[in-house]
Amino acid sequence: MKVYFDNAATTPVIPEVIEAMIPVLQHQFGNPSSIHAYGRETRAAIEGARKKVASLLKAAPAEIFFTSGGTEADNMAIRCSVHDLGIRHIITSPAEHHAVLHTAEDMMHRGEIKLSLVNVDNQGHIDLKHLEELLKENDRSLVSLMHANNEIGTMISLTEVGELCRKYDALFHSDTVQTLGHFPHDLSTLKVDFITGAAHKFHGPKGVGFLYINHRVKIKPLITGGAQERNMRGGTENVYGIVGLAKALEISYERMDADIKNVTTLKQYMIDQLRAEIPGVEFNGDVEEGKSLYTVLNVSFPPTENAEMLLFNLDIAGIACSAGSACSSGTNVGSHVLGAINAPADRPAIRFSFSRYNTRKEVDYCISKVKELFLVKV
Ligand SMILES: Cc1ncc(COP(=O)(O)O)c(C=O)c1O
Repeated sequence: MKVYFDNAATTPVIPEVIEAMIPVLQHQFGNPSSIHAYGRETRAAIEGARKKVASLLKAAPAEIFFTSGGTEADNMAIRCSVHDLGIRHIITSPAEHHAVLHTAEDMMHRGEIKLSLVNVDNQGHIDLKHLEELLKENDRSLVSLMHANNEIGTMISLTEVGELCRKYDALFHSDTVQTLGHFPHDLSTLKVDFITGAAHKFHGPKGVGFLYINHRVKIKPLITGGAQERNMRGGTENVYGIVGLAKALEISYERMDADIKNVTTLKQYMIDQLRAEIPGVEFNGDVEEGKSLYTVLNVSFPPTENAEMLLFNLDIAGIACSAGSACSSGTNVGSHVLGAINAPADRPAIRFSFSRYNTRKEVDYCISKVKELFLVKV
């Protein structure tokens, strides 16, 4: 049996999305910047996609800028806030994705900003009191806090943090890469200045994403060049990627209620089975419904002599999952997120992440393999 439990790393592209992209790959090859009919056709495809994304998120089409993915969108929000909006202080958390953390650290090392890290508790929750103190002490900050953590699933309230940022006249960027297409975002009421999305996290193609920029904020491009994306991002557009992104998001919204219900139930089933079958198992992050990303389950296994072999043995059994974040897999460094929440170093941690295509049968198979591995003391 083959089981894919690594949907937080990336998701399979679904047939409906491929179908939407094929005509663009086959026939609509005109450069969207060309004024002839070929160009106008691809321009219309991009603008149609932008309208679709904007209407799903209750934003204006002029607030959506397509990028090469989540990392570029995060970079654009953070770097342009500093370069164009007079931001000299960034507040983020030690559990952020490296697309945010390394960007903010780079700007600090270059002497462009002062960097503050807000405290997180041992489940990865942001200390809101500390955040307020940092906002009080510093003028005009940018707060960059992810909606849901990609490794442990712990979430913030965008409403609460957004209100706090407005109170202190701070800008608010949220990396929503793990929640876009998985939760409804109503940008007509949320007090956010920037959010980011990546199509490959919601069954769309890789290498395409977007940055939402609230109309009250005016920045200049991060990538300079041609006049694409209304002068905000140079470079010929990834037309088929953009079309695929919009289709994938549309389908995610159509299926969202059912997906939330079914995947939440599947995750709870896995939690219950693990508790029943593996003595001493614990979970990293908050697993409580409503406070946790329903697609992610980070399991803290009892200490074992051969922790590194766990992931390898699951792979041999046909189960794909990940140790911490897949974004830095292969580098073999410990997870900075697990470090930030003081997860015990002697307990191997494995992230299982689900999609609408996973089943109970797969969970049962996975539990049976995990059980075998622990029975033979891995
Ligand atoms: C929370 C988060 N932010 C940003 C990214 C980066 O997105 P991309 O791979 O599209 O650059 C990822 C992807 O792993 C992510 O999980």
